[in-house]
Amino acid sequence: MYVLGIETSCDETSVSVVRDGRQVLSNKISSSLKIHKKYGGVVPEIASRMQLESLSEISDASIREAGIKLKKIDLISVTSGPGLAGSLLVGVSFAKALSLVTGKPLIGVNHLHSHIYANFLNAKGVRLPFIALVVSGGHTSLFRVRDFDKIETLGATRDDACGEAFDKVAKILSLGYPGGPFIERLAKKGNPKKIRFNCSGTRQPLDFSFSGIKTAVLYYVKNHLSHRPSCPERSRGTTIDHRLKYDIAASFQESVVDALIDKSLLACRLKKINRLVIGGGVAANNRLRVKFHAAAKERAINYYFPPGELCTDNAAMVAGFAYRLFRKGHRSDLYLDMQLAQ
Ligand code: KG4
Ligand code: ZN
Repeated sequence: MYVLGIETSCDETSVSVVRDGRQVLSNKISSSLKIHKKYGGVVPEIASRMQLESLSEISDASIREAGIKLKKIDLISVTSGPGLAGSLLVGVSFAKALSLVTGKPLIGVNHLHSHIYANFLNAKGVRLPFIALVVSGGHTSLFRVRDFDKIETLGATRDDACGEAFDKVAKILSLGYPGGPFIERLAKKGNPKKIRFNCSGTRQPLDFSFSGIKTAVLYYVKNHLSHRPSCPERSRGTTIDHRLKYDIAASFQESVVDALIDKSLLACRLKKINRLVIGGGVAANNRLRVKFHAAAKERAINYYFPPGELCTDNAAMVAGFAYRLFRKGHRSDLYLDMQLAQ
């Protein structure tokens, strides 16, 4: 069965063809990131306009690359939420139109759930049930997955998402956008034990909080700026010693990584499940992977990460996940609408 996946929840425009929920035949991804970079974050209006302009062309190219024709597609799938309203609207409208003209069934999928599914693409997959951690720019959530249509939220961030905290700390340090890869690169040269940055506690043990640590970094940086009054760049933090920047990045990253690991392993323990799946943009972080390896091994937890290119937003995970839902009898109709909430 050939499934067309469409993903436009944030700044990416991605279209993919996946066969039988596993074999990725094409996965075209185009991003408007270059334009957003100068604003230090995604500008929703720009993202949706770019998606509107490029989606049809990317869809044609993806189907071509898969070596099939549109009429061979058996199912049209699209991210229906959560995400940016305008961006979701472009993808959902396009998918509905395509379903209407081709007469092929349509299915809308949850973005966070499809991040989990990235672990099943071009891979053997994971035995059910399992615990899933989704760490992205917009969300940080723990799930218990009993089946592909039985996904229960165990915890979520109370404030900033994990990737958002990486992005904001990168901005405080005058690095680029998106911040995660910049922080990771700097952290390699720093001492993770140099500064004590802690993630705040939460009332629910499986929830997360990243806003406090971001503010702690901000004040730390403010207090360690060089006090040359004439320096015009002072307010941008560029006068901070570059070795100190490495230590800030390393110490921040370490604390965030530890919080993600602690809560994930706690979820495994509380729910008595020893399989853990990780997904979302932050899952590309190598320090997270290395530390997960040690911690999971110690507690006999089997853990799974998708390959780096399937951690960040892509349509292959949408098409793969949609296939599973379709096989379970799920369908959407032309009243399918975007969903902003998780
Ligand atoms: O899943 P994703 O592509 O988009 C959303 O659904 O939000 O995640 C993007 C987020 C950004 O915040 C970015 O800074 C973060 O993932 N990210 C990373 C790394 N690569 C991307 N964070 C930490 N380390 C990385 N290597
Ligand atoms: Zn995402």
